[in-house]
Amino acid sequence: MCGIIGYAGSHETVPVLLDGLRRLEYRGYDSAGVAVAGDDEIRILRAAGKLANLEERAYGCPLRGTLGIGHTRWATHGAPTEANAHPQTDSGGRVAVVHNGILENYATLRHELLSAGTALASDTDTELIAQLLGSREGPLLERVLGVLPRLEGQYAVVALSQDDPGTLVAFRNGPPLVIGLGADENLVASDVTALVQRTRRVIFLENGDVARISRDGVTIVAGDGQVVQRPVEELDWDPGRAEKSGYRHFMLKEICEQPDALRNTVVAYLDAERQGVNLDGLGFDPRRIAAVRKVQLVACGTSWHACLVGKFLIEQLAQLPVDVDYASEYRYRSPLVGGETLVVGVSQSGETADTLAAMELARDAGAPLGTICNVRGSSAWRLAEARLLTQAGPEVGVASTKAFTTQLVALLLVALALRRTRGLATEGDRDLVTALQRLPLAVEQALAAPDEVFRRGVELVSEHEDSLFLGRGILYPIALEGALKLKEISYLHAEGYPAGEMKHGPIALVQEGFPVVALATQTATRDKLLGNLMEVRSRGASLIAVSEPDAAEVARLVDLVLPVPPVQHLLQPVVAVVPLQLLAYHVAVELGLDVDQPRNLAKSVTVE
Ligand code: F6R
Repeated sequence: MCGIIGYAGSHETVPVLLDGLRRLEYRGYDSAGVAVAGDDEIRILRAAGKLANLEERAYGCPLRGTLGIGHTRWATHGAPTEANAHPQTDSGGRVAVVHNGILENYATLRHELLSAGTALASDTDTELIAQLLGSREGPLLERVLGVLPRLEGQYAVVALSQDDPGTLVAFRNGPPLVIGLGADENLVASDVTALVQRTRRVIFLENGDVARISRDGVTIVAGDGQVVQRPVEELDWDPGRAEKSGYRHFMLKEICEQPDALRNTVVAYLDAERQGVNLDGLGFDPRRIAAVRKVQLVACGTSWHACLVGKFLIEQLAQLPVDVDYASEYRYRSPLVGGETLVVGVSQSGETADTLAAMELARDAGAPLGTICNVRGSSAWRLAEARLLTQAGPEVGVASTKAFTTQLVALLLVALALRRTRGLATEGDRDLVTALQRLPLAVEQALAAPDEVFRRGVELVSEHEDSLFLGRGILYPIALEGALKLKEISYLHAEGYPAGEMKHGPIALVQEGFPVVALATQTATRDKLLGNLMEVRSRGASLIAVSEPDAAEVARLVDLVLPVPPVQHLLQPVVAVVPLQLLAYHVAVELGLDVDQPRNLAKSVTVE
């Protein structure tokens, strides 16, 4: 979704802004722009399409100055044209604004401004903010405080004004903003990825904060103008991890980073001495956890698939009933939630608007609230009372891969911890813990499958507009995830289904060559799954199975085996998803598509 960068420092701002925007590209966007405060006017460059278009203009028309703002826009109000790109200005060109989010009173404000004779130059809600700021007098911070009560909805905004030299003002209600404190420079961005090249000292703004940022310092006030203090945090992200490091795509790099990401996540929470899980210090009050009678997991997209696996893990290991909800449904369905319900928001970014709203609802209902999240300091991180950090490092490819598998492991750790709290732990749990420690090696083996396997997989899948992914039990969510990976980056329709349900409808799709991808690793229900595969095979389907390579009964039946090593049943989802990630990746590459930034998608969905 949209990306923001602002710079107040001693260097030329345009290269800094473009570099920041380049690092935010992964969020998904369809136009881009920068504004620089020049000596006597604000100068703006904008371009529809990819950042390269904007960069080309910037080379042809250098803008000089040391204060500026930049933006990548994912269109909401108005088409992705140059006129609707940000920064937007007021009619006098004295104020420029970049904005993430949506103004819900857009229609009212627009009507008011048009009735007052303001000529609007775009279809955006962002221009309305610039116009409101431009219609006031005084320092920019004062203007913002005056305009804030007029803004309804979700917004993260950075503004500059020709009348207030050397100053950026940033304010948020919903989408995140983070300030980077540098040497002789300060920055602000929608996401730390845009800052880590220049500084690791950051301040996460809270909702309602208004920050005045100049080269020399940062002051933060609340909506009533009172100064507030926010902690300065030191990021532990290695900026190198947000580079492609020789890989053709971020997605491939991130798939290959999974063994390390898993190892780091396991090591962070495993108590090697006790051969158990140590989640002490996450933040929960033990008495609240002892009172928990059910669990609700809320998330969106791939993270929601992780929660479906989490339901199996927690129900089996901790014997607690688990509901898994799409956060966008949970927030509007009056869920039965209270002090006895442990609610966990699962999110890679920690900024997904629906997940945050669901978590807020749970918090307000008095539920113990946790998060499994990949970004320290994100909104989910700050909202939850207990946090488990997946140690995947920055995930740049829009299609989530390493964040997903680390979420699976995190959910297993939570399940084991709840098991212990509930007095259910046994000596036998050591085997599972040992298997968990060996899991990164198993993922390495899954990654080592030969290229020809995927070449054949591409042949079987890429020429068909539709395919079906089947799984049972704990592997059913992996069928959903495999299908989602394929459709989001290859634009081929794929559906994930519980294999036993296939006869109740989807089998009608099957005809000669129709690709069916099955999760056929060794489980108690493998024979049943093979029975389902025979049914589609006899109707002409091409079959691809994720399976241990020595499973002769699978190899006999299918056209292609995507090999994975044998692992403990509860860990199979982590290993089984790897070849499906790679299959989706190779299909998208074969089709010549933009793997890391698929059309219409955004990495971090900060609006409803
Ligand atoms: C798909 C994908 C999305 C996200 C979803 C939630 O590959 O990445 O489906 O999983 O938008 O995002 P987070 O986990 O950041 O809350």
